[in-house]
Amino acid sequence: MMLVNMRDLLEDAEKGNYAVGSFSVANMEMVLGVLKAAEELNAPVILQIAEVRLKQSPLEIIGPLMVAAAENASTPVAVHFDHGKTIEKITEALDIGFTSVMFDGSHLPLEENIKMTKKVISTAEEYDAAVEAEIGCVGGSEDGSEDIAINCTKPDDAVRFEKETGVDALAIAIGNAHGNYKSTPKLRFDILKQVDDMTDTPLVLHGGTGISPEDFVKCSKTGIKKINIATATFDSVENNVREAYKNGNIKGYYDLHEAEIEGAYKNAKRHILIFGSDNKA
Ligand code: 13P
Repeated sequence: MMLVNMRDLLEDAEKGNYAVGSFSVANMEMVLGVLKAAEELNAPVILQIAEVRLKQSPLEIIGPLMVAAAENASTPVAVHFDHGKTIEKITEALDIGFTSVMFDGSHLPLEENIKMTKKVISTAEEYDAAVEAEIGCVGGSEDGSEDIAINCTKPDDAVRFEKETGVDALAIAIGNAHGNYKSTPKLRFDILKQVDDMTDTPLVLHGGTGISPEDFVKCSKTGIKKINIATATFDSVENNVREAYKNGNIKGYYDLHEAEIEGAYKNAKRHILIFGSDNKA
């Protein structure tokens, strides 16, 4: 049983100076592909799904699947509820066995975000689960349905947030955005450095798709301990399937199933190696 608390993964990442990949999944094939990469590379990993994606992948079906896959993995796996909007859905994820949850109050005034995050923390405590929050605004939305403008995190807000909530992981906005970037992202490493210097909480980078390997490495050495990857997984699965059809490698359903797993595997492997979390299990 290698289902673990995200808190422990991030603590180890802090000590080892690397970041843990948190991969969004939408079906069993993606779960299998991510875990294949993690097991092959002997890497800790996080499986996640965002609340907005539950209309395609219902929580009561994909949630137990993610938890069971983690329990059966030979490498440490945390199961995380990404961009939780309501205490009700967050509690449902905790009941299923998720070992960490995010409450996304980034759109709220700081005061309100702190108040709500504290409520989520006291709920999660009953399950010994970790909690992630977000301050400032990461651009876009997890499923691309909203065009949220980037609003970089104010370092003083991060200090206050940490002090008043004691949250386990803090997502910050430093010019990053969800989905494929329209132009090369310019991350504000000056802000990241200030937040890292002024706080002790493991930091989280959302919007991982399209960030360069060099910037990922720089982030992982400057306090970012969890990196979220969603669009790159979906794109890799889709492209791998498309290629397999083009090359005449799909002759029946199970070839399609294999091509999907392979797409998720390749993407997770590439990112784990960049984040430096290989051989850290
Ligand atoms: P991307 O889709 O840009 O990889 O962002 C993922 C993410 O941050 C999920 O919370």
